[in-house]
Amino acid sequence: MTPLLLALPGDLLAPRFAEALPAETGRLELRSFPDGETYVRIDSPVAGREVVIVCSLHQPDTRALRLLLLAATARDLGAARIGLIAPYLAYLRQDTRFRDGEGITSRYFASIMAATFDWLVTVDPHLHRYSNLGEIYPIPSAAVSATKPIVEWITARVPAPAIVGPDGESEQWVDEVARGCGAPYATFLKTRYGDRRVELRAPDFSALKGRTPVIVDDIISTGGTLIAAISGLKSAGLPAPICIAVHALFVGDAFDNLLAAGAAGVVTCNTVMHSSNAIDVVPVAVDAARRFL
Ligand code: R5P
Repeated sequence: MTPLLLALPGDLLAPRFAEALPAETGRLELRSFPDGETYVRIDSPVAGREVVIVCSLHQPDTRALRLLLLAATARDLGAARIGLIAPYLAYLRQDTRFRDGEGITSRYFASIMAATFDWLVTVDPHLHRYSNLGEIYPIPSAAVSATKPIVEWITARVPAPAIVGPDGESEQWVDEVARGCGAPYATFLKTRYGDRRVELRAPDFSALKGRTPVIVDDIISTGGTLIAAISGLKSAGLPAPICIAVHALFVGDAFDNLLAAGAAGVVTCNTVMHSSNAIDVVPVAVDAARRFL
């Protein structure tokens, strides 16, 4: 039987996934009661079927509960298995106890998700102190990389690029992107002093001279990290950089602030819908999801 694909209302990527997998798009009613609780009704046959739910987990505290209620409904209606394609998977950055008394929320979130889903596909999860998703997600999972589509985008549009990582954590992406583009790279050293305050220490940029800097990071949230990187490049006398990120969270005015800080352009992958989406990661995510079906 064809898999059934479900998504939260308004998800413009869901039809792309349905077509590419292929899967039948499920009809559902998912809305808020006047008091804010969620109403769910799946109006497509579910019993005995493979169900795939596509749901990016930006604004996770709202979306994750809706997602869990939708999955619970599918399970209750007899779904054979339920897989989650979360192009952006939230709750990975708190991966240790930085200060006494803190919750390691990445672990708790992972156990809630793993209790609900049979498999998981995501794009470039923020794995820093975890070496792979399996360390916290005890279900079959695939973390696909946006490196190839990012390399293709840069290669087609930026002559003589130089890849810049805003911090040590980004080196895992920056190194691969630079190799794919045949370009040099350098990474800043970042110290975080708060949710919105970071300080970057510049490396030796001499190998980057005469090239167009392209900053690559996994997430843009407040934009603080990339704004500091733009300023560091400016101070080093390098041209205005193009900023590329996988996940376009863009809290508040982050997008406009990046442009105001001097970014020559801001481009993201389509894991979270945003006007800056220009790099398509649906094909890589679909390839991974097919292996679970
Ligand atoms: C953190 O290490 C990530 O790779 C990003 O650099 C970070 O999440 C960006 O956050 P913000 O845009 O708030 O500086």
